[in-house]
Parts: sequence; structure tokens; C-alpha cells
Amino acid sequence: MVFNLFPRSKWLRDKLQAEQQRLPAAPPRIFLTGVTGFVGGAIAAELAGGDSFKDMLFLVRAPSPAEGVRRVRASIARFTPADMPLHIAESQVILADLRDAQAFSDARLEQVSHVIHCAAVTSFGERSDIWEINVDATMRLAERCSRLPGLQRFVYVGMAMACGVARGPVVTESLRLPVERAHLVPYTASKAQAENQLRELFPELPLVTVRPSIIVGHSSLGCRPSASIFWILKVVAQLNRFVCPPSAYLDIVPVDYCARTIVALTLKATLRFSTYHISAGRSGSVMVEQLLQAFHGMNVAARGQPYERVSEAALRQMALAFGVRHAVQGSATLSGRNEPINTRMLHKALMLYGRFSKLNYVFDERRTLGEGLAPAPCFLEYIGRCERSAAGMSLKAQMAYDFK
Ligand SMILES: NC(=O)c1ccc[n+]([C@@H]2O[C@H](COP(=O)([O-])OP(=O)(O)OC[C@H]3O[C@@H](n4cnc5c(N)ncnc54)[C@H](OP(=O)(O)O)[C@@H]3O)[C@@H](O)[C@H]2O)c1
Repeated sequence: MVFNLFPRSKWLRDKLQAEQQRLPAAPPRIFLTGVTGFVGGAIAAELAGGDSFKDMLFLVRAPSPAEGVRRVRASIARFTPADMPLHIAESQVILADLRDAQAFSDARLEQVSHVIHCAAVTSFGERSDIWEINVDATMRLAERCSRLPGLQRFVYVGMAMACGVARGPVVTESLRLPVERAHLVPYTASKAQAENQLRELFPELPLVTVRPSIIVGHSSLGCRPSASIFWILKVVAQLNRFVCPPSAYLDIVPVDYCARTIVALTLKATLRFSTYHISAGRSGSVMVEQLLQAFHGMNVAARGQPYERVSEAALRQMALAFGVRHAVQGSATLSGRNEPINTRMLHKALMLYGRFSKLNYVFDERRTLGEGLAPAPCFLEYIGRCERSAAGMSLKAQMAYDFK
């Protein structure tokens, strides 16, 4: 079955498709939100150098077009070779904050054929604006895009963890996501709500939702673009104690794989489904004990001692003790001391990631593979690159990627 991107009459759909096939394919005009973020930057880098890049539009928060261009370029440059020219014109940036009711009124959007909506509040905390940005602004964008004459696809970057708790162990792509009482943090609930509402309120939108699993590092650049989440995995390996069983699976993908797959699903002429996981799945997910072995093989402390499963109540004391040890054991600094870390934040992160790890989810990857796309590399294939690239970064700096 081919997914029905134009759910009007079959006659009209066939006619439109036949007409499109007769015309020479026009280069896509892509509108991307969230380009200054981890995933959005990688998506833009994936498209940089291609024919459609010069026609791309980026929604950016900045005080001036020049600063907008600078932010876009700096974000993409994290993923591209230093000698690769990045030509971005001021006419490609739309300066707006998603909270602004007029954020999508710019006339340049009229020409857009493909939308990738990647921007979101990704904080695990209780931010008061999370619903406004992740849900309300997404609906305003969808409303605007539903009136675009040449829109071919609207890609919403959701998240696999928006499936809520009590699923699995292998999670398949259900269309309706649970919202109330099914989430560990408001962030995943807001992502679920946005997806549900997009389907309910805009049934005619050529919507495809992509749901990445846990994104850690880059398969060749390691943590250079971002150390998000990597640091917590390393802390767990150093503690060698955590709340999940060692047999728990973590479904991790690198950001470049995620970006490549999102771009492919955006530009592929026909798709069989309207929702796709972007995941390591059954073959590429990694067990906690394999992860610990890999870290310990790279001389991360706690080597040789058996892993101990602990209760959530033990995490606070573990975070405090880790903070003290971390401060006195530093060797990378001139003073022989590490920059002190916020142990309250560390405790919070251990609690939350502990709960996610106990879900033991693997996200079914068969739909994505069924589109002829490559499987994700296993995290163990590039964990060494992540470790080496993060070695010169203080733990405090790494934590800042997740506590903005
Ligand atoms: N990272 C993961 O592990 C992961 C996993 C699954 C799904 N996802 C999804 O992937 C998408 C991107 O995540 P990420 O990790 O790249 O997040 P990120 O690094 O935190 O980037 C968030 C992006 O959203 C933009 N943004 C936030 N609030 C905005 C506002 N009010 N107006 C305009 N732009 C705003 C940010 O712009 P500024 O730079 O101006 O703040 C930034 O470009 C999200 O939808 C997320 O749910 C991520």
C-alpha cells in the first residue's frame, strides 16, 4: 500500500500524480525549523552542498538577519569539513520565535514544497512554555502549511519515547500516542500530544512523522558536535551501579544517521507509511552490560568490579559521592582538580535516565528498512570516537548540553 499523501478523491490524486510525473522534477524548496539544534544542524549539514540547499529556508531566533546567518552557519559547521564553503544568504533566514503568533506569516513560505519541523523545547524539566512551543506552535505551523499550494510533505520530528510507558519490549509505530499519565516527563507528553493533534486537526496535511530513539554523538565526529547524553552513559560506567538490569537494552542512534534518514524520508517520492521510527532496533540496540564492557575496555574507572543494580533511593548519595570524587580526582586541569559539577542536576539526570533505561525499549526499525534505507550503526562501533572526542571536555561542559 502506498501511503496516501493527498487524501482527496482517488481520481484527483491519480491525476495530480500523473501530472507531476510528466513534469521535470523541480528541486525541492525545504523549510527547516530547529537548525541551531543538534538534530536540525545535522539535517542542514546533510543537505549542504546539494542542489536544494541554496533554496532552503531556515527559521532562526536572532536579532538581525546577519546574526541569523551566523547562527545557521555555526550550527552546520559543527558537522561539515572545515574547508567546505557554506553559502547561506540572509534571504534564507526567517527570523522568528515559535511563540510568536506571526512566526509563519512570512511570504517566502508560500513557495515551500517540503517542511521539516524539528524545533522543540527538549528540556526534561517542568518548563512553563513547553506546551506552547511544542504543541500550539506546531499547530500554527501546520495550519499555515495546509494552505501552501505546492506542499508535498510535512515532516514532523517527533520522538520514539513519546510512546509512553508500559509498551515494548519491541515498540511498533502506533498512530495514536498516549498522553495522560503515561509519561516520565512533560517533554515526551508534549511530543505525543503534538503528533496526535496534527493527525486530528489536519487530516489533509501530507504529514509524515519520524520518531528518533535516543540520539548520542556522531558516527565519525563522536561528541564534537554535542556531548548530549553521552556523559551520563559514561558516569554510569564509572559508577558501575545503576537502577536497570545489565540486560536492559538501550536503542541509540548517531545524529548523522538520524539526519540522513530524516532527509531520505522527506524527499522520497512515495512512502508506505505515515510514521517511522529512526532507531537501532533489534539488531543495533545495545545492552547495558555491553556498554559497560566497552567503557571499561577504554579504561573508564570501575573496571573489573561487578556491576551492581541499585534502587532509585540510592542515586542521591551516589551523585553526591561522585561529585566529591570528581572534584578531587581531576588530572586534566593544571590544579589537578576538576571543575565542580552540579550534583543536584546529576542526581536528576540519573533518576530520569534510570527510569528510561528500565523501560528496556527497542524501537522497531522494519518500516524504515522497508523503504530501502540503511540500518543504524551500533553504538559500540563509534563509542570510542565519542570517548576520545569528549576527553578534552570537562564534565561540567558536557552536562551543559543537556541542562541549557
Ligand atoms: N536529541 C535526542 O536525543 C532526540 C531524540 C528523539 C527526538 N528528538 C527530537 O528532535 C528534535 C530536535 O532535538 P535536538 O536534540 O536537536 O534539540 P536541541 O538541540 O535542544 O535544539 C532545539 C532547537 O529548537 C529551537 N527552538 C526551541 N525553542 C524555540 C522557539 N521558541 N522558537 C524557535 N526555535 C526554538 C532551538 O533554537 P535556539 O537555538 O534558538 O534555542 C534549537 O534550534 C526535537 O523535536 C526533539 O524532540 C531528539
